Amino acid sequence: MNKAEAAIRIAKLKDLINDYRYHYHVLNESIMSDEAADSLKHELSVLENEYPDLITPDSPTQRVAGEVLKEFARMEHSKRMLSLNDVFSESEIKAWIQRISKLDPKTTDEFFIDIKMDGLACALIYEDGILTHGITRGDGLAGEDVTANVRTIESVPLALRSDTKHPQFLKGKTEVRGEIVMYKHDFDRLNETRKKQGLPLFANPRNTAAGTIRQLDPNLVATRPLHFRAYDLLRESDAEVPTNDFCYNVLADLGFSINRSATLVHGVKEIMDCVNSWENKRHNLEFNTDGLVIKVNDRVLFERLGIAGKAPRGAIAFKYAAEQATTIVKDIFISIGRTGTATPVAVLEPVRIAGSTVQMATLHNENEIKRKDIRVGDHVIVHKAGDIIPEVLQSLPQLRTGKEKPFRMPLTCPECGTKLIKQNVVDAAWRCPNPSCPSRSWKRIQHFASKEAVDIEGLGEKNVIALIDSKLITDIADIYSLSFEQIVGLERFGEISANKLLAAIAAKKHPELSRFIYGLGIRHVGVQTAIDLAGRFKTLEKLMEATIDELSAVDGIGEIVAESVVEFFSEQKNIRLLKKFKSLSVWPKPLKHSGGKLEGVKFVITGTLTHLSREEAAETIRAKGGRFQNSVTRDTDYLVVGENPGDNKLAQAETFGAKTISEAEFFKLLD
Ligand code: IVH
Repeated sequence: MNKAEAAIRIAKLKDLINDYRYHYHVLNESIMSDEAADSLKHELSVLENEYPDLITPDSPTQRVAGEVLKEFARMEHSKRMLSLNDVFSESEIKAWIQRISKLDPKTTDEFFIDIKMDGLACALIYEDGILTHGITRGDGLAGEDVTANVRTIESVPLALRSDTKHPQFLKGKTEVRGEIVMYKHDFDRLNETRKKQGLPLFANPRNTAAGTIRQLDPNLVATRPLHFRAYDLLRESDAEVPTNDFCYNVLADLGFSINRSATLVHGVKEIMDCVNSWENKRHNLEFNTDGLVIKVNDRVLFERLGIAGKAPRGAIAFKYAAEQATTIVKDIFISIGRTGTATPVAVLEPVRIAGSTVQMATLHNENEIKRKDIRVGDHVIVHKAGDIIPEVLQSLPQLRTGKEKPFRMPLTCPECGTKLIKQNVVDAAWRCPNPSCPSRSWKRIQHFASKEAVDIEGLGEKNVIALIDSKLITDIADIYSLSFEQIVGLERFGEISANKLLAAIAAKKHPELSRFIYGLGIRHVGVQTAIDLAGRFKTLEKLMEATIDELSAVDGIGEIVAESVVEFFSEQKNIRLLKKFKSLSVWPKPLKHSGGKLEGVKFVITGTLTHLSREEAAETIRAKGGRFQNSVTRDTDYLVVGENPGDNKLAQAETFGAKTISEAEFFKLLD
């Protein structure tokens, strides 16, 4: 990019980032996520570094704070509310420790680590133990007096607990700082309600919390579920709160909600153990977080280390790899799924997100593309978290050059040329109706052989395609008629691998009923539904004869699923397929009554278990005839409480009368 091009690009980026900042800080709404904005800011600072004379004082890279809104009284902070410098790796953590050790020879290796909550900072002032003020962070020096609003938050004590072990904090002025957050599930529920009411949806929990706190009507605030979690305690004399672990103990004792997982660690190794242990666990927290706060535990030392810019030297924020980034849509193609659904997929300029390179992302369906106005050539925001399929969240039309091309859904299937049909008018989801569409058959076979279904080792994507291409198999039953001579003749196989595959297939001639049902690929029948069906009908023959009424009567099965099952077993091609299975002596085992004591017992898990992953626990429960649920409902029997449990599930268990049990008690139930 030459200088003239860079100038144009810089101007566009500045406008967009400024727009984002204005919406975010002043209007309390979001036109994109922070991570996406960070990605744009990063691009801007790279360009500005290259051409420093293009930097202007109004560039977003040159500015740090937001403005105080006029409607609330402005109030000065007793002590500046600081921000934190970010680090992203172990080496940066080590460099930070080295820096502070050089600055202060008395540095210890004691650190205090807490989750970095993604909400808004708030200072609560207590005079003689009574809440007098709640102040937002504002520009760090002064914020807005939102006392009436914070008073509506139940986790904000209106008075400090008088039976505290630390009564000295009940005298004079005590300031408690913390984060106001909205829980993810509350946010989802709020948006569901708004959707039903035809109201515009909120962008994310943090902005919703921030927007709520700045509402002038405390009655409205009271209807929104907000939470306050404390992380700091200030007194006139710093010596009253010598360390951070003492600070958290006192906070809890005075009646504040703190993160119970906040912990004292020693040295880099323990810091990294903590960082690593939270990498995945953090997704199970009630609220959003993008990292951890690491502070020196000794607060006298913290003060001595002082401030550099707007951040203290004695604390840092460790940030996990961002889960969103911006990139360009190079092309859009149609992928035909196992049941024929035609899903538009974006081919992306490869981009690193959350530790891996993303090259493709789902666009869901035609309506989504229209709604988000995504065009080939567009700059877009892409999201990826954990194991989820990367998704294009939104386009950035502000960065268009005019060469972008709107997408048109093709009329025919790109795989077999059959005319596509609209399966669902609301979502404008299209499908290829051709049951023998080549794209569908390999996906169906792969699904049948997959781990969650019949689990035939060695039948991954590439081998299935090789077997189909050489015309050895066309449907799932054909798998069982493969011979050694046929397979060994293929390029991908040797004698050993051919024998191995045949043995794996032979071992699955009588699969478990639920796995076989799931493997058939009946529309709307997922793993749990297949288990429910197997549990009710016990044999495949009985399921094949089931009526819509019988099916709908099964716990957890609705009319749509019932209709889909009946339709599947009445279609000629499926009847033929099942006959073929029979002729090859392949048939699922009838389900014996398990008689286990978990038959029909319903479990929910909160927090992390030490011995099993969520999936393993769910599988074990199901294997014993029990039911695994994602949230506590009226009919939940047990809530298994792991490490860092969610407050909400615990509260719901109490409301609905589900019994809470520890991991050890859970294992006892499982035997
Ligand atoms: S301690 C010197 N602990 O992060 C500031 N801050 O970038 C020390 N935050 O606006 C703050 N969770 O509101 C601390 N557990 C936590 C936090 C936390 C979120 C926010 C805080 C501040 C920002 C600092």
